[in-house]
Amino acid sequence: MVREWDPRTASSAEMASLLATLNAVLAADLPQDPPWRETSLREYLAEVMPGERRLSWVAQAEPTDPGAPGTVLGQVHVLLLGDIGVLEVLVHPSVRRAGLGRDLVLRAARRVYQEGFRSIGVEVVGDTPAVGFYEALGFTREYVETRSVLDLAAVDWAELAQMATGIGAGYHLEFFPGGPPDDLIEAYARAKAEVRDVDDGELRPSSYDPQRLRDSLDTLHRRGMKPYIVLARHEQSGEVAGLTEVVVPAQHPTRADQYDTIVAQDHRGYGIDRAIKARMLLELRSAEPELAEVQTWNAQANEAMLKVNAELGYRPDRDWCEYSVDIAELVHRIDPPR
Ligand SMILES: CC(C)(COP(=O)(O)OP(=O)(O)OC[C@H]1O[C@@H](n2cnc3c(N)ncnc32)[C@H](O)[C@@H]1OP(=O)(O)O)[C@@H](O)C(=O)NCCC(=O)NCCS
Repeated sequence: MVREWDPRTASSAEMASLLATLNAVLAADLPQDPPWRETSLREYLAEVMPGERRLSWVAQAEPTDPGAPGTVLGQVHVLLLGDIGVLEVLVHPSVRRAGLGRDLVLRAARRVYQEGFRSIGVEVVGDTPAVGFYEALGFTREYVETRSVLDLAAVDWAELAQMATGIGAGYHLEFFPGGPPDDLIEAYARAKAEVRDVDDGELRPSSYDPQRLRDSLDTLHRRGMKPYIVLARHEQSGEVAGLTEVVVPAQHPTRADQYDTIVAQDHRGYGIDRAIKARMLLELRSAEPELAEVQTWNAQANEAMLKVNAELGYRPDRDWCEYSVDIAELVHRIDPPR
């Protein structure tokens, strides 16, 4: 049975069952990834940026005990932002290839179509069944990035400490657990607006104006995701010359996510990229003792950033693809009018 579902009001038993299914999916498709925990999972699924909405449906098995919720076998949610819907679907490995994934996508697509949206985007992990699935549904590949993972146990910390200080004269680094302080928000947003050396997926838009940046930091905190920032300040002008952002999610705190890394155009060539990332890792080592890995996403054409990441010890892991489909076309093809 597929039904619309709201994480804010779901029972604890349903949340636990969804988590078990998510972890079964990870074990089948991404066995090197850490399993998720229940900490802040509800908030992760419920909280959104102002102006955005997330709609969810679950597929549940018939309950074995009367009164108990049926096992969650699959879930779909779609985040409505701007004029696109961003889809996420998962189906328990034990019930795959029986049409449930297709039903879930159709359920979400019909609603998003009725609400007037035109296109749906989805992140698809390379070398998993999702590639064949979305291609069978008519989604087309728009963009490919490489995910790389850094194993902190393999890091040469002495070398990293040298990298963190190997920055041109006239700059200094600052570390801000929790996000940039309010008096730096404007300079921070300016740096992000000026350059986009995007270190994360296109479906996770960055925030370039001060209010949107504040909202985005607030949303991260509400979702149980703790941001850490290292800035390079240009001493003469006070400008933010470079920044790097890492987020430690309560749901998988042993593996952090690298978000944006940006070096402003006028401040390139001074070793800022390498120094801010190295300093970040040194700070995280003491701030997050549970942390074992950091993952990052890079466009394959971004050779400069890939080179710095390789020097830091990141190893390429998977293709991470963005697919999209025209919703009207999808709805009419898989659900033709009778
Ligand atoms: C992708 C996914 C949702 C598919 O669910 P499903 O219920 O097995 O899909 P369906 O049975 O509806 O498949 C519909 C069609 O997609 C295609 N398809 C599905 N799985 C496929 C596979 N492994 N290889 C090739 N094509 C596939 C087939 O054409 C299939 O039709 P068919 O079975 O009649 O041939 C499921 O594998 C899944 O949850 N993957 C994890 C997704 C995810 O979020 N991962 C993130 C963390 S890894």
